[in-house]
Amino acid sequence: MRKSKILGVGHYVPERVVTNEELSQMMDTSNEWIVERTGIQSRHWFTPGIDTLTSLSKKATEMALERANLTAKDIDFIVFATITPDYFIPGNGVLLQRELGFDNIGALDIRNACSGFIYALSVADQFIKTGMYDRILVVGAEIQSSALDKSDEGRSSSVIFADGAGAVVLGPSSSDQSGILSTHLHSQGEYAEELYCKDPGSSREVRLSPEMLESGSTFLKMNGNAVFKHAVLRFMEVIQEALDHNQLEQSAIDLLIPHQANLRISQYIQQKLGLPNEKVFNNIMHMGNTTAATIPIALSEAREQGKIKEGDLICLAAFGSGFTWASALLHW
Ligand code: UT7
Repeated sequence: MRKSKILGVGHYVPERVVTNEELSQMMDTSNEWIVERTGIQSRHWFTPGIDTLTSLSKKATEMALERANLTAKDIDFIVFATITPDYFIPGNGVLLQRELGFDNIGALDIRNACSGFIYALSVADQFIKTGMYDRILVVGAEIQSSALDKSDEGRSSSVIFADGAGAVVLGPSSSDQSGILSTHLHSQGEYAEELYCKDPGSSREVRLSPEMLESGSTFLKMNGNAVFKHAVLRFMEVIQEALDHNQLEQSAIDLLIPHQANLRISQYIQQKLGLPNEKVFNNIMHMGNTTAATIPIALSEAREQGKIKEGDLICLAAFGSGFTWASALLHW
């Protein structure tokens, strides 16, 4: 069976940079606390009226297409990972399809939060492997800042989450030496409410009410400690699962790109895997946690910085709301 590989990768983040200093004027927090507990120094937040999820993902897609030497007309299918679409209905894949002048190709939305991009990559990988499609656009994009509680009560989440978009073009590999080796996907819904946004929801008498807005149930809620504890375990498990599946040692990894949830989580995994600094890519310091967008944004930045070479073994891993977690191993 043929393998699929990444032909081009791009990203785009909104122009507005929000520093820790700026956050400390909105809520009871400090630069010291945020840097020490999360590693984040600044992040990008969208500007209403200027940025939309579709406009961010359009710019990321244009960069990915250009780097793949392809145009929108070459794409057969779109897989769009986001939990923050521009509309409740329809999904965001179709909005991007309209915006970039693709043919009337299929567009699938994936709602797996922080693991969303790896889930999306896995779906696209199956379509390419079976020969169903030849070129698939895989997007991870998020606007989280409009669902954050920027009062003191919401400070532990609102200092982390941010906005941005990343995209890759996936196509068949022309060589046995490059391409996706395997993907591994998991979920455990018993923890759904540890990181979730309750409203608006379809199982209420009205989907959105003044009471919901008043009570704050439309904000993203996270039990940070619980998420952290599960994350460090599941990251290790799912990376090891990928290595075992391909009979590879931890030391074979040339670059690990973990979902950028918290620098302390990345550092814990790095230490457990015994990887040197140059083999782990982090950009949470200036990007924050952009949920489904963190991995494609990081891939794009790592490529720009010359940290990914032909033939390198790249490991992608993520954990987040659901809980869901996932990994992918690929040769660049
Ligand atoms: O991407 C999806 C997956 N998400 C994650 O993996 C995130 C995982 N969780 C985390 O990254 C961390 O749990 C947080 C960064 C969210 C919180 O850090 P923490 O070290 O777990 O802090 P904590 O919640 O245990 O709170 C410690 C203290 C508390 O004060 P007291 O009770 O010790 O007096 C909090 O009220 O820090 C306080 N605190 C803050 N102080 C200043 C919480 N948030 C803030 C803040 N600024 N922003």
